[in-house]
Amino acid sequence: MEGTTNLSREDKILLIPGPTPVPTPVLRAQSRPIINHRSPEFHALFEELIAGLQEVFRTQQEVLLFTSSGTGGLESAIVNTLSPGDRVLGVSIGTFGDRFADLAEAYGAQVERLNFPHGTAADPEVVRERLAQDRQGTVRAVLLTHNETSTGVINDLPALSQVVREHGALLLVDAISGLIAAPLEMDAWGLDVVVAGSQKAFMIPPGLAFVAASERAWQARESARMPRFYFDWEAARKYAARRETPFTPAVSLCFALQEALQLIRAEGLERIQARHRRLRDAVRAGVGAMGLELVAAEECASPSVTAVYMPEGVSSKELRQILSQRYQTVIAGGRGQFVREIFRLGHLGWVDGMTVLSGLLALEMALRDLGLAVPAGAGVAAAREVLAGGKEGG
Ligand SMILES: Cc1ncc(COP(=O)(O)O)c(C=O)c1O
Repeated sequence: MEGTTNLSREDKILLIPGPTPVPTPVLRAQSRPIINHRSPEFHALFEELIAGLQEVFRTQQEVLLFTSSGTGGLESAIVNTLSPGDRVLGVSIGTFGDRFADLAEAYGAQVERLNFPHGTAADPEVVRERLAQDRQGTVRAVLLTHNETSTGVINDLPALSQVVREHGALLLVDAISGLIAAPLEMDAWGLDVVVAGSQKAFMIPPGLAFVAASERAWQARESARMPRFYFDWEAARKYAARRETPFTPAVSLCFALQEALQLIRAEGLERIQARHRRLRDAVRAGVGAMGLELVAAEECASPSVTAVYMPEGVSSKELRQILSQRYQTVIAGGRGQFVREIFRLGHLGWVDGMTVLSGLLALEMALRDLGLAVPAGAGVAAAREVLAGGKEGG
């Protein structure tokens, strides 16, 4: 259905799992005049940011702020807790879990991989059995993904954390696409390192990584011998004591974060998470009603992103092109080694029911353009019912 819109939109409807849409007050905050990052104004800003980050990480520990993408935060987790040759268990349920393991390997860790089939969550019992084989207790750390963005699967972090606690290894968690959108209790669940990134549920542009470490992780740092400089936690902590960062921070992103944390506090974590669950359920109901097949089972379905199998004979690239060019809607393709092609709909951060409904309508139109017999209006109707409260997110 060409010609639905002929406006040239600068701001397309962004339904990818990061970077996510940025609310207008946050965009505005970013354009404030730059301040000296070694000044009382910055000190006050920094203090507010760290307090706000502690609230969303659910921790009493210092949260370190790095100017980098999320991977920088993951790199900091590896190099500050481990030494070359250390045994590490890389639990992976998708591309990002694989990458975390690759990162540890690049720094000389001896990584053993425990991979679960794409589309499923890590089974805590299988992790327990694997760790039980380590009778000498030489596995130093377990790498885990909170929410696997490549498959739209969320792990049962409390259960997995308990298993790792029983063994005694450090638990390093990539919570880049999960934090805020899904519950995560760093202190209560005994997570040793938690890493997040600005471009996901924080609703600010890419460019900041946030990292918090437990007492045990800080202790591990004392003997960790992997090379580090920019991502050295000790330097970050030393400067944080004077409410600064060791190197020039992305000051404009700090303004954005200040504004976003205020929005997050105003909505409240519980309500934010309920909204994400509802959006997930609406999207799942919508694509299901269009006759499409979901990758993740309901019990491990991510509140941030939904992965969907492409219908037979249609290419995800072509679908995404039509969506972007005709319907001003941007969705993500598949990542990694999926046997069947997939596409992914992000619904995290500054996303509401209307955004999701319009995304589903665009999807329906694009699929029909591609010759698929998608029932008109069925996806939107099913999603609308969920959003109207017919089916509350669990
Ligand atoms: C779960 C997860 N881990 C790691 C990354 C990598 O983060 P970045 O691209 O910010 O380095 C992403 C980004 O999509 C992610 O979703």
